[in-house]
This record gives sequence, structure tokens and C-alpha cells, in this order.
Amino acid sequence: MRLNQEEKDMLEGKFGKATQKSMEILTTLGEIFEAENMIEVLGVQIAGVSYANLGEAGLEFLTEMAEDGKVKVLTTLNPAGMDRENWQVLGIDEEFAINQNRAIDAFAKMGIITTCSCTPYLIGNAPHYGQHIAWAESSAVCYSNSVIGARTNREGGPSALAAALTGKTPNYGYHLEKNRHGQVLVSVKAPVKGTDEFGVLGKLIGDKLVELGKKIPYITGIPSATVEELKSFCASVATYGGTALFHMEGITPEYNKYPTPDDVKFEINQKDLESTRAELIDDGLEIDFVSIGCPHASIHEIATLAKLLEGKNVKKEFWVTTARPTKKIADETGYTKIIEDAGAKFAADTCCVVAPIKGRFKGIMVDSAKACYYGRAKNKFKVKIGSIEQCVEEAIK
Ligand code: F3S
Repeated sequence: MRLNQEEKDMLEGKFGKATQKSMEILTTLGEIFEAENMIEVLGVQIAGVSYANLGEAGLEFLTEMAEDGKVKVLTTLNPAGMDRENWQVLGIDEEFAINQNRAIDAFAKMGIITTCSCTPYLIGNAPHYGQHIAWAESSAVCYSNSVIGARTNREGGPSALAAALTGKTPNYGYHLEKNRHGQVLVSVKAPVKGTDEFGVLGKLIGDKLVELGKKIPYITGIPSATVEELKSFCASVATYGGTALFHMEGITPEYNKYPTPDDVKFEINQKDLESTRAELIDDGLEIDFVSIGCPHASIHEIATLAKLLEGKNVKKEFWVTTARPTKKIADETGYTKIIEDAGAKFAADTCCVVAPIKGRFKGIMVDSAKACYYGRAKNKFKVKIGSIEQCVEEAIK
């Protein structure tokens, strides 16, 4: 790999131990993926923040890096294992809370903004078209590459931290134009509306891509999509298909930049959507938990929830998972009061997947296909997908 003088100095330890370790991680990665050089990144988002993922070994690595490491670029965190202000109300045990805060403190010491969210693009860690970043959360990686047209690979925890401490990343993968071309033409022949339906579509396309051994779909037939629908789609297609980039005709900014693929193609009709939705509803389901906000809810979704919950009473555990800055807007506008008066709880900084709640509930209802996947796989819940309105109906009945 070609390194410039600054990068060589980092590698030789002239900027301290944490920067040296970071440059070692990045050059090793660059060599594995045959990157020719390093590029500067505008911002970083770090995943693997929950103490449940980090454990003592991860925490030790962070503490060591925090001895002399300081971030060079704007950096935020993925959701942690708990709401940092409201963990008792959500039933998180004290020992976990203490350890989670030790991890967050280590990140803070390095100058990382300790906003824990999987939607950094909604709360100010937002790149523009064509800019290079190093993000780790799969749904956010897919959103930034596809919807914004920024450029990032899906980083692991250590490589994202290394990018934050150096402001660099190896130039390979989705940073290069040659790797951003659509590979499969997907024609959607049915109307798709709502976060749940876009999640179902993401699962359908993701499953098919795995079957075909392809990664980048070029999707036609979607006349319009909201930010919330696209974030749900991104989370789902990344979960089920490992997709970090898609093009959507008339919607994403690079859709007409590269040749449209036509050698591999498939169609999606109403029946396909219905049968995929059925796969996201378990038999013998008893719902005792409803959660909205995977990926983290936007203020728009919170406003919708407030309208649906006004004057009602939820009979089941109900979480609204969001970024703390979004929660602050909800506090100021009065949405929080309406939602909490109905008995629902805010879970900022965390979500129903990364919180340590395995086995605590029997069945979860969500509007997110990604949450269905991890609700089953990680937390051993039975699952049901539905629209945001259906989730509220279930909670109050
Ligand atoms: Fe975000 Fe948690 Fe879903 S990290 S994408 S809310 S699983």
C-alpha cells in the first residue's frame, strides 16, 4: 500500500500509541483487500457498543485505545445495551448498566460523541453525495451508500474506531466506482407502502440475492418512498441479503450513473410480498411486547405514534426506540408526554435487539423485518410484523 508521510508517521508511532495501533489495523485491512492507498473520511459511526457484545476483552481494548487516542473526525456510536437515562424503567440490571457506562466513558474519553444511534444520518452525522465515510451499522451503511450516495464499506468495531482515530480508511470496496454498479435487475410489479411493507420487500430481495450470490440490486417500479420507508428497507435488505448498496430507479442518486444490469433479473408481484410477509408471522404467537423504531424512529414516526396513542392505554410492554436528540425534540413538542401518558416507554440510545432482554418476553410485534430476524435469532421471541397502526392496535387491545 502507498502511504503518504503523515500516514507513515502514524504507523511509526509519532502520533502516539492508539494512532499507531489504528494505522496498523487499517494497513492490515488495506493489504488484505488490496487497497492501493488510504483516503480521508468525513465521519465515522462505530458499532459493537453494547457491553453484551464487547465483554471485558472489548472493554480492555477500548480502555487501552483511550489512554492517548483522540478522534480526528466527527464520530458517533451505534445503539448501546440500554437507555443511559432510563435503564431502570426498562428493567436493565444494575451490573450491566455499570459496565455499559464504563464502555461509553472510554468512547467519550476519545472525543467520540456518545449519541448511540443506528440512524446517524437523522441526527447530524450526515455525509453528502460522494463523500467518504467509515460506518459500521449495516442499515446505516446501506442507507448512506444508496440513499445519500456517500461511500463506505461496512466497518467492524475496531476498523471503525481506527478510522476515527486517524481520519483515514483504506481505499477499496464501495469507495471505488467500479464496485458500485448494479448487478441484478429487480422489477417490482405491486404497490409497496409503509415501513413494514418496505421491510417485507427488503427481505424478499435480500433472500433472492443470497440465492443468486449477488449483492447490489437495481430496483424498478417504486414510484416514491419516504425516508422512513427507505431506512426500513435498508435495514431489511442488509440483514437478509448482506446488501450495502442498492439503486432504486428515480429515487436513489446514482440510479442512472452506471449501466442498468439486464443479464440477471427477477420480478416481484403481490403474491410474493404476501408470502414473504407470512414468513414474518409466527404460529402460536402470544404478543406481550411491541416495539417501534428499528432502525431508530424519526421525529415523523414519533409524531405518528403520538397521534395514534393519544388518550389510549397500552396493555403490553411498548418501547419507542430512538436517538436521544430525536427524543429531545419529542420532549419539546409534547409527543413524549402523550406517548408516556398512554403507558408506552421511550428507549433512547438502545433498541429491542441490543438490549439484554433475551427470553424476557414471549412474542414481539414490530413494523420492522430486521427486528423480526433478530427478535427470533437473538432474543428467542416469536414475532409478528405489521404496520405502525396495527402495532398500536395490538398494544391497546
Ligand atoms: Fe437499529 Fe437496533 Fe434495528 S441497532 S437497525 S434499532 S436492530
